[in-house]
Amino acid sequence: MNKFNRSFWKERYKNQTTGWDIGYPSTPIQNYIEQLTDKEISILIPGCGNSYEAEFLHDSGFKNITILDIVENPLKNFSKRVPSFPKEHLIHANFFNHQKKYDLILEQTFFCALEPKFRKDYAKKMHELLHKKGKLVGLLFDFPLTAKGPPFGGTKDEYIKLFSTYFKLKTLEKSHNSIEDRMGKELFIIFES
Ligand SMILES: C[S@@+](CC[C@H](N)C(=O)[O-])C[C@H]1O[C@@H](n2cnc3c(N)ncnc32)[C@H](O)[C@@H]1O
Repeated sequence: MNKFNRSFWKERYKNQTTGWDIGYPSTPIQNYIEQLTDKEISILIPGCGNSYEAEFLHDSGFKNITILDIVENPLKNFSKRVPSFPKEHLIHANFFNHQKKYDLILEQTFFCALEPKFRKDYAKKMHELLHKKGKLVGLLFDFPLTAKGPPFGGTKDEYIKLFSTYFKLKTLEKSHNSIEDRMGKELFIIFES
């Protein structure tokens, strides 16, 4: 059984207990986006929440962005906030059932929101959703995994074991430009399919 299912997340949005929501695009992801030159690439943000990164991408001229969440509320909020974003690219679905292929997938506080027993499925699914040489880019927490969460932590060693089955681990290092609250607690990743 999945403890952190749609109802769990739906309640969090309803009660506004959304401590993960920083209200703006996080610096490491924004900096990564800023150095991308091809605005035609297909990009997925799963477990997107209010998705300030998607807004930043859209405002920066990226043409093919898809955002996905198991809860409809943040997608509706996003649509109101960014009315020019194509409605057909707002996907209300379970990540594990999504079927499409992308050039780039952005990760931020989605992996840590899943029960750790789903981590292998996450790595496999991310690989499935990427074109050959596609990239999974973003942030993974760097603190010990305990029974308490979300957010569920993890370590570099664990991530190496988990992801190297499916990806070439191009970057997996302490993020040097995290937001203040997360400084020293996250790893920046670029994993190539
Ligand atoms: C901790 S929040 C992070 C939201 C966003 N990435 C951010 O940084 O603000 C986790 C998000 O993942 C969504 N989520 C959880 N399980 C999911 C699943 N299986 N498929 C799609 N979305 C899911 C939740 O509804 C929630 O919006």
